[in-house]
Amino acid sequence: MRAAVYDAYTENFDDITVRELPDPKVPPASVLIEVRAAGVNPVDWKLVGGHLDPVMPTQFPVTPGWDVAGAAGARVIGTASEANHEYLRGLGAEPVTYGDGLVDRVLEAAGGKVDAVADFVGGVLDDTLAVLTDGRSHASVAAPSVAEHGGRYIWVRPDGTETARLGLLVDEGKLTVEVAGTFGLDEVPQAFKDSAAGHVRGKLVIVP
Ligand SMILES: NC(=O)c1ccc[n+]([C@@H]2O[C@H](COP(=O)([O-])OP(=O)(O)OC[C@H]3O[C@@H](n4cnc5c(N)ncnc54)[C@H](OP(=O)(O)O)[C@@H]3O)[C@@H](O)[C@H]2O)c1
Repeated sequence: MRAAVYDAYTENFDDITVRELPDPKVPPASVLIEVRAAGVNPVDWKLVGGHLDPVMPTQFPVTPGWDVAGAAGARVIGTASEANHEYLRGLGAEPVTYGDGLVDRVLEAAGGKVDAVADFVGGVLDDTLAVLTDGRSHASVAAPSVAEHGGRYIWVRPDGTETARLGLLVDEGKLTVEVAGTFGLDEVPQAFKDSAAGHVRGKLVIVP
């Protein structure tokens, strides 16, 4: 990676030079981000000058940078039937078809095991553990039993603050909700049948 570095404490900021360094190592539970921008703060030049050494000892060479904005650069592999592959691509995910052979398809698409699994379907614990790198994270909204196998079961709760935050994202165009169908009150049974069929893409909405 290309980085600005200094090799010793200095008051001469021209000693900060740009050079090629090896990419950082990524320990478990960490992510590597691609920095798009970094802020410069008083703490940065205080660190370069060695003024914070008593409280923040350092190892040279040092790449300064306190505030950064970047992109995690995660690759997302999503499971879907063929009919929804184009939709997943549009969301930035790489689609694979679910069903028999799913584990092999995921391993092939990922080029090995994956760093995290999010399950929104249920009944896929064996597949999850087969594709997940040992010790890495998995979570499910549909299978409480993941908690007995090192995973996290997530149960949503009404939360006004979070809902307001999601509303802002909708206003900014960063979050969209696909409406798969609207139904009148007398069509509620049909809406339930459609949902139970298990292939609705988006929300079914009752408009009384
Ligand atoms: N814990 C919680 O708080 C919480 C909250 C919400 C939902 N849930 C649970 O989460 C599950 C999903 O909810 P949902 O609202 O997303 O349901 P949904 O609307 O019925 O999900 C339908 C979608 O799932 C896809 N799908 C069906 N079988 C699949 C499979 N084997 N692999 C991958 N994708 C598959 C379908 O795609 P195709 O048409 O391509 O098959 C369709 O796009 C349900 O079990 C629900 O009860 C839990």
